[in-house]
Amino acid sequence: MLGSEGGVGAVAYRAKSRARPGFRSSERSGCGRQSLSSGPLVRRSTTIEYRYLGNSGLQVSALSFGAWVTFGQQIDDDTARALMRRAYDGGVNFFDNAEVYAAGKAEEAMGRVLAKEQWPRDSYCVSTKLFWGGDGPNQRGLSRKHIVEGTDKALRRLQVDYVDLIFCHRPDVNTPIEETVRAMNHVIDQGKAFYWGTSEWSAQELTEAHEIARRERLIPPLMEQPQYNMFWRDRFEVEYAPLYERYGLGTTIWSPLAGGLLTGKYNDGMPDGTRATMPEMEPFKERFVSDRASRNIEKVRQLVPIAEELEYSLAQLALAWCLENEHVSTVIMGASRVEQLDDNFGALEVAARLDDDVMERIEEVLDNRPAGAPDFR
Ligand SMILES: NC(=O)c1ccc[n+]([C@@H]2O[C@H](COP(=O)([O-])OP(=O)(O)OC[C@H]3O[C@@H](n4cnc5c(N)ncnc54)[C@H](OP(=O)(O)O)[C@@H]3O)[C@@H](O)[C@H]2O)c1
Repeated sequence: MLGSEGGVGAVAYRAKSRARPGFRSSERSGCGRQSLSSGPLVRRSTTIEYRYLGNSGLQVSALSFGAWVTFGQQIDDDTARALMRRAYDGGVNFFDNAEVYAAGKAEEAMGRVLAKEQWPRDSYCVSTKLFWGGDGPNQRGLSRKHIVEGTDKALRRLQVDYVDLIFCHRPDVNTPIEETVRAMNHVIDQGKAFYWGTSEWSAQELTEAHEIARRERLIPPLMEQPQYNMFWRDRFEVEYAPLYERYGLGTTIWSPLAGGLLTGKYNDGMPDGTRATMPEMEPFKERFVSDRASRNIEKVRQLVPIAEELEYSLAQLALAWCLENEHVSTVIMGASRVEQLDDNFGALEVAARLDDDVMERIEEVLDNRPAGAPDFR
């Protein structure tokens, strides 16, 4: 699987000399953020805040909402509509999707909601991600052909004229990066997308894309969609670290609750109705049932007293922990029930109360602080 878990113990001296790299300290949190990647804090309220997406003028809600597992699969259209309404009413202005989610049915379900709601098109952003569009050799990957045809098909399913964000869902080792950069520029020039980005590309691949774009005077990727949560930190906190400043990389992070593990719902077994029990999730079972999952669940149990002391739910604590990182532009929430979104919106309030002391107690439980680059001076 992409990414790796925290490098426990390695080069610990470095971690000590840079407490909580990337995280806002309680001293700074009142001043608004000035980082190039997420931009200054624009508005903060008990409901939502908006952050600039990397080095762009686009503002995305700090909490956004995505369709994976749920739309077109786990939930019906009425529930999908109720969830999107709850999100939109709470200030969410970014809805995430992909051509591969439920083999296109997730985009269709989202498209039906957008068509019914008739929200002003400039009041929200919607995305798609391209890579797995079908089984044929040209229905997948990042060739110019699949990017152009895949975009058109996604627009039809979503019932929109353009997507605001379009992602390369994974790197394609069989397509020259220059072909992909040119194809994404073409899609943007055609008015079918406004910004393009990547998902789970390595820092090396991102650097190559940027250097090609600079050399050829093309639009570089703006944002990356990586996994980031309390158990999955290295790529986001260490590998990408140089890119936030150098390229103003924005981030739309996925699985902030590690698929639900961080809500504590798996602490005593596998409850009915959860995604872990779905046959479609068999390829992802290892996240819920494995030695690694057991170790993670043990850590979740140890987080319970911290959440209880603050009088917040574990889900709120885990989402707030993500929001605390200054390089996070938006945290994409997943939910199968409206009550889960009600709960998750509380994370905004928690984030305001996460001081250095609480963050350090969380670090002690997680015991996976990435080491960072060694400093030999
Ligand atoms: N780029 C990529 O490769 C990639 C990969 C994965 C996801 N994503 C994007 O990121 C989005 C979020 O990922 P994710 O769905 O894995 O996020 P997540 O936050 O890790 O997991 C969401 C799931 O946790 C459970 N849950 C959420 N809030 C809860 C609460 N308050 N209490 C109890 N349970 C709660 C629900 O599952 P149950 O139905 O089991 O209750 C929900 O569907 C996706 O929708 C997608 O847009 C992108």
